Amino acid sequence: MTDLTPTKDMLDPIETAARDEIEALQFHRMKRTLKHAYDNSAFYRKRFDDHDVHPDDLKTLADLAKFPFTTKGDLRDSYPFGMFAAPRDKIVRVHASSGTTGKPTVVGYTKHDIDVWADLMARSIRAAGGRPGDIAHVAYGYGLFTGGLGAHYGAERLGCTVVPVSGGMTQRQVTLITDFKPSIIMVTPSYMLSILDEFRRQGLDPRESSLQVGLFGAEPWTNAMRCEIEEAFDMHAVDIYGLSEIMGPGVAAECVETKDGLHIWEDHFYPEIIDPETGAVLPDGEIGELVFTTLTKEGLPMIRYRTRDLTRLLPGTARSMRRIEKITGRSDDMIILRGVNVFPTQVEEQILKCEGLTPHFQIELTRDAHRDDMTVHVEHAEGYGTAVARKASAEQLAHHIKSVVGITTKIVVHEPEGVERSVGKAKRVVDHRPKA
Ligand code: DLL
Repeated sequence: MTDLTPTKDMLDPIETAARDEIEALQFHRMKRTLKHAYDNSAFYRKRFDDHDVHPDDLKTLADLAKFPFTTKGDLRDSYPFGMFAAPRDKIVRVHASSGTTGKPTVVGYTKHDIDVWADLMARSIRAAGGRPGDIAHVAYGYGLFTGGLGAHYGAERLGCTVVPVSGGMTQRQVTLITDFKPSIIMVTPSYMLSILDEFRRQGLDPRESSLQVGLFGAEPWTNAMRCEIEEAFDMHAVDIYGLSEIMGPGVAAECVETKDGLHIWEDHFYPEIIDPETGAVLPDGEIGELVFTTLTKEGLPMIRYRTRDLTRLLPGTARSMRRIEKITGRSDDMIILRGVNVFPTQVEEQILKCEGLTPHFQIELTRDAHRDDMTVHVEHAEGYGTAVARKASAEQLAHHIKSVVGITTKIVVHEPEGVERSVGKAKRVVDHRPKA
């Protein structure tokens, strides 16, 4: 793999600034954001008044803990534009996420917000090893989802040649990669695996492709999956994180030279980790729910937004800005099976240990006579399709899951393509248990 480490002169000065400089900037911007939200959003004014807090109460960064949280429910309740803090005619774009239940959540951006987003995505692509002049293949979905357009504007801002493919039509993805020879790909890790399968189906060696780096995100994925993709394509696989409520992709990104968790672009987002039960702020290093306050957003400032994503804050390494550990999952995705908490990423790690299986998987939950059962649907790898090999793979996986995760599972080994595919975020869990 090529060394893609950027030199310091390529970086924005704030990326390597001293901590006190970053904190001074955060404080200044946080004060301005609280005032902007209070003065321009009826939602925040009422929320702050109800909690008896005022923007003037912020005397230090830690005082943010006095302010109330914002949740996805708040966004839903103010559907579609009720929380916006800029006049409607200053909103130049909206995005929306469908979610699993109820109304979508709608987010809005001013021209300045779009500009900051492009800058931060450009910074993220550069951190991953991208350079002006590179060809960037964007296979995140374009549309209301923030992945496609977010990646697109960032790559253009960096000075790349953008190929706006969007998700789907996997054969064509492979043709375009082969013909246009991009060095960068941006796509969900699960869809990258489908692209990998298609390379092999067409008899092409993925290691011979032009790809040098992928920015993979929008869903949880493990370091084991990173190794799998890096090995298969002889390319760097770098993590990128974001959520539409805060901006979209590019809230935090990994650096290609360290691949040790994602640096939060702290000049624009202030992170906290809280105990999801009590809401108390936890010290850096402890695992809890990630909460963000935007520091420069105009259209839809977010004060202490509860992401539901579980991780911990770590000190900066390749950049001065703090990192989040690779996200294990969302509290909503946590499966409670007979009293044991399980995340799909834990299952993914165990599948990747089994030689006879591919990394495609889906978890099915059922209830029989008040007993919850988990079935893991997987596919056999090439050359492991005989009944004997499949049985051995199933036993091996069941054993790994039992000994590492601590639960007994049923394993079904399907033919290749037997597990549901998605062109965007993979659906890892299908829950057939009756709702409580
Ligand atoms: O998924 C934005 C995005 C697009 C990020 C492309 C990265 C690349 P939403 O659809 O609003 O936005 O979903 C946000 O996806 O709260 C996490 O639960 C999950 N997520 C996003 N990135 C990662 C990641 C986009 N790198 C939700 N690792 C977030 C784990 C991620 N989970």
